[in-house]
This record gives sequence, structure tokens and C-alpha cells, in this order.
Amino acid sequence: MAYFTVGLITMMALILLLLPIINQYLSCPEIRSCDANDRFSCSNNPPQNCSFQLVETIPENLTYPSGSIESMSTFDAWMFLLKNAKKSVDLISFYWLMMDRPETNSSLDIQGKTVFNELLNVIKRGVKLRIIVNKPNTTNPDLLALSQAGAEVLNLEAEKLLKSGVLHTKLWLVDGQMLYLGSANMDWRSLTQVKELGILIKSCDLLLSDASKLVDLYNYVASRNEVPRHWPCKFNTRYNADNPMQLNVQDQATSVFLSSSPPFFCPSGRTSDINAILNVIHSAKQFVHISVMDYMPYTEFAKPHLFWPVIDDALRRVAVEKKIEVKILTSLWKHTKPDMLQYMKSLASLNGLSFTKPETSLQAKLFCVPVVMPYQQTIPYARVNHNKYMVTDQTAYIGTSNWSGDYFINTAGVAIIIGEPTPSGEDHHHHQAIFERDWYSNYSIGVWNVDVNNFTISCNSA
Ligand SMILES: *[C@@H]1O[C@H](CO)[C@@H](O)[C@H](O)[C@H]1NC(C)=O
Ligand SMILES: *[C@@H]1O[C@H](CO)[C@@H](O)[C@H](O)[C@H]1NC(C)=O
Ligand SMILES: *[C@@H]1O[C@H](CO)[C@@H](O)[C@H](O)[C@H]1NC(C)=O
Ligand SMILES: *[C@@H]1O[C@H](CO)[C@@H](O)[C@H](O)[C@H]1NC(C)=O
Ligand SMILES: *[C@@H]1O[C@H](CO)[C@@H](O)[C@H](O)[C@H]1NC(C)=O
Ligand SMILES: *[C@@H]1O[C@H](CO)[C@@H](O)[C@H](O)[C@H]1NC(C)=O
Repeated sequence: MAYFTVGLITMMALILLLLPIINQYLSCPEIRSCDANDRFSCSNNPPQNCSFQLVETIPENLTYPSGSIESMSTFDAWMFLLKNAKKSVDLISFYWLMMDRPETNSSLDIQGKTVFNELLNVIKRGVKLRIIVNKPNTTNPDLLALSQAGAEVLNLEAEKLLKSGVLHTKLWLVDGQMLYLGSANMDWRSLTQVKELGILIKSCDLLLSDASKLVDLYNYVASRNEVPRHWPCKFNTRYNADNPMQLNVQDQATSVFLSSSPPFFCPSGRTSDINAILNVIHSAKQFVHISVMDYMPYTEFAKPHLFWPVIDDALRRVAVEKKIEVKILTSLWKHTKPDMLQYMKSLASLNGLSFTKPETSLQAKLFCVPVVMPYQQTIPYARVNHNKYMVTDQTAYIGTSNWSGDYFINTAGVAIIIGEPTPSGEDHHHHQAIFERDWYSNYSIGVWNVDVNNFTISCNSA
């Protein structure tokens, strides 16, 4: 009996002692407005003047009339980031191909080689280079060389962690102070042969500390090789579609949040990428302009293919009910799936519905990156518009995902959503102008002018 009592008391004491620890796993403390991660929002200093800059790769031989809007190049943005790195460079990447292979003497990949050499320099300067990559890393020459030079390379085992999905994120974080997020892969072709759009962000501590939570999340998943059932509290965020952070961007009040895909990569508070997209579409008051490589209202990779009209429904709804002008620009190249053309024609067939005035406006076009030089014909998976963004009269969305079901169900991606109370900021104008430059360019073809059964010909004649 005495033993039993002593045993019971010891057990009770143990439980009492462990309670706080157990509790920590059951619930996360409320994120207070002045916690360590958000120290910047609570200081009395004047708000930071964040710098946002859209960056693009315009493939060689894709030319616009003089006077067209221009952006900083992806190459310049990446070199800027690497040259200015002091402590750490984190690269979340899909795959690596910074040099043309097999080893040729071509100068085609000169920009890729330059970035690669700068990465080696970064390591030599004592900066910590950490890479998280989707594809198996053992046979990749880029990653082998970087890892031998001292980079930490972590594999994210997508097959196990994402079922049939992949790590499709393209996110750079430098010194926890600067960021690149966009469509460009770690690929020499992303610098000269593929059309890309992304954003370079500087001096914006509140946003960067939220972005570093995403980077830490990938690191956590990759190094443990598992997706936790409950995310540790440190990954939670206060900033999302309902509560965007209020920033000062180039002297403009701007509300911003970061979204993440798939939903099981969203700790508490993080808006999923698909909800972010729906939110942007539904909050438009006048127009929704979309430029994505692929637009498919079904699951492309998962078998069986499931009908997935989540974005498609939202676009039809705002066009029909709210008379929002919808324009969607996708990519036409040799790998375009004929299905996509049919789905786009289906969307565009609602253009001009006059059941209620004013008529609905829902237009679809395809963008062709021209093949001018004979060698361009032979570069695999190049000469394509790889953009993944949306710009409305209220908001800009810059992401890394193709717009098909898979990317929002089991593929890892991130996006930034930038809203302005008075959409008059320079960046917003710049972004709208980029869309219009492409939409009205000779490289865009109305979807009705494309023959589903014979479409590559349309591209070459553009
Ligand atoms: C295409 O680009 C290449 C490489 O920059 C250049 O040498 C060539 O003159 C360009 N051709 C045309 C027709 O613009
Ligand atoms: C590349 O250039 C070197 C030296 O000029 C030459 O020996 C080699 O054969 C060239 N390789 C190719 C694939 O053209
Ligand atoms: C590949 O990844 C593993 C763990 O993810 C890491 O330990 C190893 O160093 C990496 N190898 C290379 C060549 O980068
Ligand atoms: C904020 O940044 C923009 C662009 O970098 C610059 O033009 C402006 O002068 C800055 N404003 C202040 C108050 O420093
Ligand atoms: C399209 O091509 C025609 C004929 O070459 C040219 O006159 C026109 O300026 C071009 N338009 C644009 C937007 O590039
Ligand atoms: C595709 O279009 C080209 C040029 O108009 C034509 O010569 C060819 O026969 C067409 N092919 C098919 C399968 O319709």
C-alpha cells in the first residue's frame, strides 16, 4: 500500500512537471503582437521604407517596341543578391542546371556559369550557403561541386513527403535581409531562354522575418524527412489574407502576406496558396489579369485525373456576376497540352454574354516565345513563357505554381500577395504595364486563332 501511494504521488508529480511540455504540444501560445519574431512591428522607429522590385527574364530575340516597360533582369537581381551576401544564402529550389551539359564550348550558358561561379565565391568568402532541392542530389554536378566547396545541400524527398507532388518552390533568402521569389528555376535557361517574372525585396524586416519562417519550414521538413502532424509554434504566422502586414513600400502604404502550398505545408495562420488566389480574384473590383504557363482545371499528374474547377469557377463567377474584366494569358510551345486550349476556349466562350448588361468580358490568349536562331530550336524545355502571376486593380499575386490542381494539392510552392489601399504605387503600375505589354504584343495569339489539332504552326507564324 505504501509503495502504491509513493508510486502514485511520484507519478502525479511527474505529470505536473511535464504538463507545460505536454501542453506546448497541444496548443501554441497566442502570437502576441510584440513577440521576438515581430520585433520590428513594435519598435518606435519610423516604419521601414521597403524596396520591392519586379524582375524579369526576357529571352534573347524576344523584342518589344522601343519605349515598352522594362524591368531589372533576373540575372542582375541574382548577382546583386550574391555580391551583397554577408552571412547566409538560402536557396529553396526545384532542380539545378546552371551550366549547359554535356560540356560544350558554347557561350550560351554564360550567365548561368557566372551565377554559379559567384556561388562558389560566396562560399569562399565564408558565407553559409544552404540549398534545399527536390531532385536527388547525388548525381547532380552543380550540387556535387557546391557541396564539395562547402555548401550544405539538403534533399527534400518529395516522393515520401509530397506523395505525387514535387518541391516546386523558388525562393532565395540572403542574410535574412533580402529575398527573391518568382518563376525562375536554378537553370541557365531561366536567365536567357525562358521568360520569367519574380520579385526582389530589400530592407523589409517584418516581411523577411515571415519569409524566413517558410525557409525554416523547408529546412525542418527536409532535415527530418517528415511532415510533422503538428507544426512547432515557431512556424505559425499572424500574417495572412485576413490580417496582412501593413508595410511602407517605396513610400506607399501596402498590405502584404505570403502564402504556401500544399495546404499541409501551412502551419497555423498561413494562408494556403489556393485560398490566396481565390481571395485575390474575389477582391478585384474592375479587372483580373493572369499570366501563367499552364492553366488546367484538373489534376495533371495525379491518377486518375480529377476535375478541379476551383479557379475556373471563381473566374467565371466574377466575370458573370460582378462584371469583372478577366484576361488570361497562358503559354504556347511544343509541349502545350491540347486539353488546355480546349479549357481556355471554354472560358473564353463566355466573352460577350449579354444576358445582363454590361456584357461579360472574359478573354484568353496564348503567348509564344519566338524561336529565331537555329540553335534555339534544339535547347530542350526552353523558349516558353514561364510566368506565374496575376494582377488586378487591387492586388498583385506573384507565385511559383502552375495553375493546375496538383500544384495546390500536393506540390510545394510559395507566393507573395501585395495589396494597396489606393492602388497607385509605382510597382503596381509597373506590374499592370508588364501584363499589357505582353497581352497586346505580337507574341500573343487569341485562343480562337489557335487550332487545337495543329497548334505549333500558330506559334511559328507569330
Ligand atoms: C538573336 O539573338 C542573338 C543572340 O543575342 C543575336 O546574335 C542575333 O543577332 C539575334 N537575332 C535577331 C534576328 O534578332
Ligand atoms: C572545346 O575547346 C577545346 C579547346 O579549344 C577543344 O580542345 C575541345 O575539343 C572543345 N570541345 C568541344 C565539345 O567542342
Ligand atoms: C545530399 O543530401 C544529403 C541529405 O539530404 C546530404 O547529407 C548530402 O551531403 C547531399 N549530397 C550532396 C552531394 O550534396
Ligand atoms: C523610399 O524608397 C524610394 C525608392 O527606393 C525612394 O525613392 C524614396 O525617396 C524613399 N523614401 C524615403 C523617405 O527615404
Ligand atoms: C506588331 O507587328 C507589326 C508589323 O511588324 C508592327 O507594325 C507593330 O508595331 C507590332 N506591334 C507590337 C505591339 O509590337
Ligand atoms: C497543320 O497546318 C499546316 C500549315 O497550315 C498544314 O500544312 C498541315 O497539313 C496541318 N496539319 C494538320 C494535321 O492539320
